[in-house]
Amino acid sequence: MSITETTILAPEENGNDKRQAVLDAKVAAMKEMVAKYSQDILSFGKPHTPRTSETSQTGQIVVLTGSTGRLGCHLLAQLAEDPQVKHIYALNREASGDVDALFTRHTMALGEWGLEPTLLRSSKITLLVCNYNQERLGLDEDTYERLAGSATSIIHNAWRLHLKAPLSEFEPLIASLRNIVGLAVRSSRPGGAKIVFVSSVSVLANFTTMSEALERPITDPCIAAAIGYGESKWVAEQLLLTAREVNGIDTTIVRVGQLTGDSRIGAWSTKEWLPGLVAISLKVVGALPDREGDINWLPVDVAAKVLVEMMRSNEPVLHLVSPRPVACTHIITFFASRLKLPLMPYQGWIERLHTAVKAQAQVQADGSSKKRGAGVALTLFELFRDGHLGIDVVLSLERALKASPSLARAKSLDEEDVERYIAYWQKTGLLSA
Ligand SMILES: NC(=O)c1ccc[n+]([C@@H]2O[C@H](COP(=O)([O-])OP(=O)(O)OC[C@H]3O[C@@H](n4cnc5c(N)ncnc54)[C@H](OP(=O)(O)O)[C@@H]3O)[C@@H](O)[C@H]2O)c1
Repeated sequence: MSITETTILAPEENGNDKRQAVLDAKVAAMKEMVAKYSQDILSFGKPHTPRTSETSQTGQIVVLTGSTGRLGCHLLAQLAEDPQVKHIYALNREASGDVDALFTRHTMALGEWGLEPTLLRSSKITLLVCNYNQERLGLDEDTYERLAGSATSIIHNAWRLHLKAPLSEFEPLIASLRNIVGLAVRSSRPGGAKIVFVSSVSVLANFTTMSEALERPITDPCIAAAIGYGESKWVAEQLLLTAREVNGIDTTIVRVGQLTGDSRIGAWSTKEWLPGLVAISLKVVGALPDREGDINWLPVDVAAKVLVEMMRSNEPVLHLVSPRPVACTHIITFFASRLKLPLMPYQGWIERLHTAVKAQAQVQADGSSKKRGAGVALTLFELFRDGHLGIDVVLSLERALKASPSLARAKSLDEEDVERYIAYWQKTGLLSA
């Protein structure tokens, strides 16, 4: 799991009134946002035609959002090669409004993640510029009606991955989700279109029970009240549960854990926390942090395949993490031996990082290339300091494993995976001096 999924309440606030007040305010804001957007969702009513007993598994027409992103590219590739999928409408924002610009962005993104850009020439794929926040998703009436008339599933994957933004900054994403529900309800398919929502394990940030977290709705908002990102996913989950119950559409919330580089070339965005941590360990701290516990990370391409299989599940909530966790020390040791770095206890590593943070202004001022790539980790210092390297919640995979044969087959991370990540980051220049 990731630092994106950690509990972020500063230690000095722990266990005192201030901490409670922060939590109360967060919970109030989360509930308020749910109440505000539930009104709209209730007003959508039910789909034109009721659901039939079985959804057809062939000729699926899928609306995919956020296909310019890392997971989105892999989803696009998996959907394109799936024989049961007849067509994919890939919806993305594009400031210029120009579909050619969107095509170019996809070409670059697919290349960056080691996928074949010629994929875009597939007659199965239609790229559409949208505005998620607008009525009809900013699509012209004909296009919107074409989607409403044909879509069998919507994979809603687009989201902002900002770890320090408060919940209020995610409100446009919640408004987008409402419009996605509107499209699903409007679908002329029996029972409306199914929605698969790419959620995050960060909704379990404050899950402290010793038992495993079940694939069930989280009724207590306190469990998710930690960082705005996770809180926004919780709000989204509540709205989808409402849509399932009241509007009668089929929804599956998939709580995704940390996604690693893909299993072929190890392409893992250098903007994410773990590559940042490795870069800062190499260039600033001179050691990697060791910690206890297991990690259940999954390669992004495997996760995409699993999500496509989960699209065919009727379960309301599923988890998507590796069914074969490995000891964190095990993986960190591979990094350490490959990068010729010592391991040190997490606390000592944080202290060294703190010293580096104090010198950050200097780092930025002299623009030293030696520190290149360390920026992400430095900006995440507070998250590293207050959180852990991932949360230690054990997630039930009982339903997920039934829904996805690919998840059941997923192997645990090993030395070869680590070598692929390092090779990829070296190629991008992240680890070069
Ligand atoms: N990466 C992980 O380890 C991880 C773990 C758990 C869950 N997830 C979830 O997986 C999904 C995809 O993540 P990713 O790693 O592929 O992220 P990513 O590479 O940053 O891609 C994010 C996608 O969402 C779009 N997007 C970003 N901000 C947006 C906004 N404000 N409004 C509309 N669209 C926006 C991006 O479009 P532009 O290209 O236009 O910016 C892009 O298509 C997200 O829902 C994320 O929460 C990821």
